[in-house]
Amino acid sequence: MSIQNAISNRELLDQQERRESNARSYPRRIPLAISEAEGIYVTDMEGNKYLDCLAGAGTLALGHNHPAVIEAMEQVIRDKRPLHTLDITTPVKEEFVNELFSTLPEGFRDRAKIQFCGPTGGDAIEAALKLVKTATGRQSILTFQGGYHGATHGTMAISGNLGPKKNVQGLMPDTHFLPYPYTYRCPFGVGGEESHLISSQYIENLLDDPESGILPPAAMIFETVQGEGGSIPAPIEWIREMRRITEERGIPLIIDEVQTGIGRTGELFSFEHAGIVPDVFVLSKAIGGSLPLSVVIYDRDLDAWEPGAHIGTFRGNQMAMAAGTATLKFIKENRLVAHAGEMGERLLQSLQELQQEFPEIGDVRGRGLMVGVEIIDPAKPHSASGSQPADPDVASGIQRESFKRGLILEVGGRHGAVVRFLPPLIITREQVDEVVSIFREALIASLAE
Ligand SMILES: Cc1ncc(COP(=O)(O)O)c(C=O)c1O
Repeated sequence: MSIQNAISNRELLDQQERRESNARSYPRRIPLAISEAEGIYVTDMEGNKYLDCLAGAGTLALGHNHPAVIEAMEQVIRDKRPLHTLDITTPVKEEFVNELFSTLPEGFRDRAKIQFCGPTGGDAIEAALKLVKTATGRQSILTFQGGYHGATHGTMAISGNLGPKKNVQGLMPDTHFLPYPYTYRCPFGVGGEESHLISSQYIENLLDDPESGILPPAAMIFETVQGEGGSIPAPIEWIREMRRITEERGIPLIIDEVQTGIGRTGELFSFEHAGIVPDVFVLSKAIGGSLPLSVVIYDRDLDAWEPGAHIGTFRGNQMAMAAGTATLKFIKENRLVAHAGEMGERLLQSLQELQQEFPEIGDVRGRGLMVGVEIIDPAKPHSASGSQPADPDVASGIQRESFKRGLILEVGGRHGAVVRFLPPLIITREQVDEVVSIFREALIASLAE
């Protein structure tokens, strides 16, 4: 039974529009007020229920209000634990660090250090940049086209999307964008396997060329699956090559696991697919079990920064640490990482079947439960590597029509033409099938608009 609300979706949305910043984003595309939420479902003010495949932008590994998470938070209150402690330690924090460290790859576990940040993904990426700059005494950062690392000045500087950057002066200098192996829209115009081989070759050459124009870098940073860039998984072999190339040249490798981390891609940490270990990786979103938390985990050899080098008031959220511990334990005890891999494969395959039916689906791709469908205009000419121009209107039509049918999906990627699926890891087979069936109806409706 859902709560009877005295106020409607429309009234709350109108209030929001009147009072909140012009910079607000999601409510423009997902126009509802959420009254209640449980598991994969959210319910709006009028009792309409939606399958939530946005899940707090990939934050809610166990879905909304999971009993294990609620119990952990209630326990903190029952035990009269402090709720906020800056970075002063507590038993709740100790348990969180123990649980998290127990999941780290062997060999790295004993060398790992952790920095609590404050508490967004963007802040933790900022910390990681400061860490490697301090440790190496260098300033250049190598990053990738299509990467997304946050909305602060530093993280925006190393992110690809020009939209938010173009009106903001004074971003972090000395950032260098490299071609990401986006095989559908291959930066080298070849596509397929060759695309990532050329990318590795290009990067290796750049780093060894004494006239490359780039000073020896403080780090290379990337997502193994670009999220906001359009759910683009880097080929496993390319990830290994990046590790080899950086290791051979003493360049710290930072993997941004903010969206991919904690089981989403079918491994607990997405770099595990490639069997590599980065020097630094960053976790946020799912690690706080629905609450704000972010950390940088790194090799102790880089621990050269001084006391207070990365401070911030809200680095001691005990509820988030308890919720994070509960999430990690639940994932382990219930084989949710493997489940995410299986459900992701089912989703991917079903969407690939739809691709045979609809020429508007240019590409279906993903890793685990981080899946994207790139919508194109099949009437337009092919590029040299076989892709066709993006069709953002049909993509946003799919989002609108899905919403009308009770499914929340995100749209992003290049030109806003990638429909993105980021469901909680607890999604069932039946729910995957329902998501695909609604997506199909929404695609038909969007094409008829
Ligand atoms: C890969 C990646 N890095 C960093 C961030 C920034 O995290 P936050 O929005 O918490 O600052 C995001 C957010 O979507 C992300 O997807």
